[in-house]
Amino acid sequence: MPVVKNKSYMSKSSTQTQSDSSNMHSTITHLIIIIFFFLLTAFQGCYSSAKTSSSGDRSSVVFQVTGNVYPRGYYHVTVNIGNPPKPYWLDIDTGSDLTWLQCDVPCTKCLPAPHKPYKPNKDLVTCMDPLCESVHWPETLDCKSSKDQCDYEVQYADHGSSLGLLVKDSFPLQYINGSVAKPHLAFGCGYNQEVHSSMDPPYTDGILGLGLGKSSILSQLNELGITRNVVGHCLGAQGDGFLFFGNELVPSSGVTWTPMSTTEIEKHYSLGTAELYVGGKTSGIKGLPIVFDSGSTYTYFNAKAYKSLVSMLMNDIKGKQIYNANDDKTLPLCWKGSKPFKSIQDIKSVFKPIMLSFAKSKHVRFQMDPEAYLIISEHGNACLGILNGSEVGLENINLIGDISFHDKIIIYDNENQQIGWAPVNCKKLPNINDNEDLDHGALCKPYGSNLDILQAYCAA
Ligand SMILES: *[C@@H]1O[C@H](CO)[C@@H](O)[C@H](O)[C@H]1NC(C)=O
Ligand SMILES: *[C@@H]1O[C@H](CO)[C@@H](O)[C@H](O)[C@H]1NC(C)=O
Repeated sequence: MPVVKNKSYMSKSSTQTQSDSSNMHSTITHLIIIIFFFLLTAFQGCYSSAKTSSSGDRSSVVFQVTGNVYPRGYYHVTVNIGNPPKPYWLDIDTGSDLTWLQCDVPCTKCLPAPHKPYKPNKDLVTCMDPLCESVHWPETLDCKSSKDQCDYEVQYADHGSSLGLLVKDSFPLQYINGSVAKPHLAFGCGYNQEVHSSMDPPYTDGILGLGLGKSSILSQLNELGITRNVVGHCLGAQGDGFLFFGNELVPSSGVTWTPMSTTEIEKHYSLGTAELYVGGKTSGIKGLPIVFDSGSTYTYFNAKAYKSLVSMLMNDIKGKQIYNANDDKTLPLCWKGSKPFKSIQDIKSVFKPIMLSFAKSKHVRFQMDPEAYLIISEHGNACLGILNGSEVGLENINLIGDISFHDKIIIYDNENQQIGWAPVNCKKLPNINDNEDLDHGALCKPYGSNLDILQAYCAA
């Protein structure tokens, strides 16, 4: 069974009553248009922001990230919610907007999770609220009374789903400078979660939606003046990393930026089209629409690009004592050597970098070294972490997932409509040690107690 724990955001509706065959066509089209992938990530909440922002008043919040692509299949952060605050593990998903927690109202179907389901207070979002409309977009909402609650249903490309209602509660967040903000944010109270029977659901309490829609946590924080409309993540291949809101941690140099593409109908982090290169040679395939999605464990190319990639890789490994390992079902395509591989290092000389060269921005390239597209399976084989997107209904879209974000900082800058990346060590927070005004003591309290990534900066 492939370890593919991608959540792709396929549709959201509580008004989804038309699913007879006469509506089949429009339903399918709808699903295809609204594909957002999002990956599962674990959260370790660390909140911080620096007081000496060069860019002004609103500072940043940082969370420690825990997880891996294989064998776990997701990354999470810990977020504290409620009053008094309780911790929840949420998958980081830049491919969808809605944040939701498993919820006790009571829970009709909750999946095994690290914490007890969240118990909401009486603060419900009504169906008149613009946030409710945004969660239902592009469908129109049938809101009969201003007192009606806002129901939601989200479905993901991996056939998982969450059904519930929108509520508001306190999200205490600690800035890097130690100050705490306690915004009230809207999120989903999910009382009915489904997963596809063949999948191990991620062991988390819910999803942290970081998309660019209005209902996303990021948009809400920006609207309230808490942080700037910038989110970034650094997912270490070895499992460490961080997530941030705001622009304090954006490296001042070395970041490759490319404009977000606004031509897409869909509201996802789209970078326009690119040409595929393998080992410095063009595949001849251009015009690939690229989307970044931390909610997807693996990367997906469309059928044409996938076919070409596989044949170019196969060609490169010819005569290098690497053979197909058809008996390894970890992922669709695995290779074995004369003895089991221990790490990607063992095959780095054989597998070449894969590159996406963006059409609109000259010299802008997204490079994927072997650690950004291969995993070593438990059988000691190297398996290709770029999958055939056509097989899971992604059609033409090419989705860049967690595996390809390894050891890079990825910045989604909604203020300047651009996406950037830079190779970095995800065990280290950028800019922090340069900031002499930072109160190191404040950085780790009151919520930062188990943030390994910050320990280096905290007083012993
Ligand atoms: C920390 O930053 C926030 C947001 O910029 C600001 O409101 C707060 O006053 C700062 N706190 C300190 C102690 O400087
Ligand atoms: C990719 O998936 C499509 C749709 O299932 C299929 O037709 C195609 O043969 C697949 N390509 C490869 C190289 O496996």
